[in-house]
Amino acid sequence: MKRIAVYPGTFDPITNGHLDIIARGREIFDELIILVAKGENKHPLFTMNERIEMVKCAIKQFNNVSVSPLEGLLVSFLKENNIKFVLRGLRAVSDFDYELQLAFTNKNLYSDLETVFIMSSNNYIFLSSSVVREIAYFNGDVSKFVPSCVEEALKRRFKKSGR
Ligand code: COA
Repeated sequence: MKRIAVYPGTFDPITNGHLDIIARGREIFDELIILVAKGENKHPLFTMNERIEMVKCAIKQFNNVSVSPLEGLLVSFLKENNIKFVLRGLRAVSDFDYELQLAFTNKNLYSDLETVFIMSSNNYIFLSSSVVREIAYFNGDVSKFVPSCVEEALKRRFKKSGR
């Protein structure tokens, strides 16, 4: 049986830190689906479609990775699609409490589910989408932190908003 996992997140935008987890996660599973959550409470900079397009562009070199929107609960998506594995990245210790809460809540809602954690690579421990957004907002160089299509999208976005 194929081992399929999802990697959920807001991806506003996807960064090289996420790609590090994806590149390593795809070696563990036969298929990896990047699930782009609405993240309404975070008031994302990019629309769902824009975030999906950026993920698509960033993962095009990976043949067993795909992307899909996540409209509702993560466990509902997993049950509907008969998927049992959730991949998450751990950066610093500060991620741990939140990740534990997510993993336990999801496990309570769907007992077959297993959350698999990959430790972030050194270079990306302090990287986050909001740090990238802030650097780009002030016209800083984000080329080390995001794939080139994301860099271009950030430039376009902040040019449009008059930055
Ligand atoms: N490299 C770089 N940055 C990383 C990272 C990595 N490896 N891993 C996480 N991050 C960053 C993200 O960029 C994001 O940064 P930001 O907050 O500055 O924008 C931050 O860490 C957390 O983001 P993310 O991992 O995307 O998690 P999230 O909190 O946005 O998403 C969901 C959490 C989507 C998985 C969760 O809300 C969910 O499952 N939602 C669906 C609804 C649901 O089922 N809810 C019940 C859950 S119990």
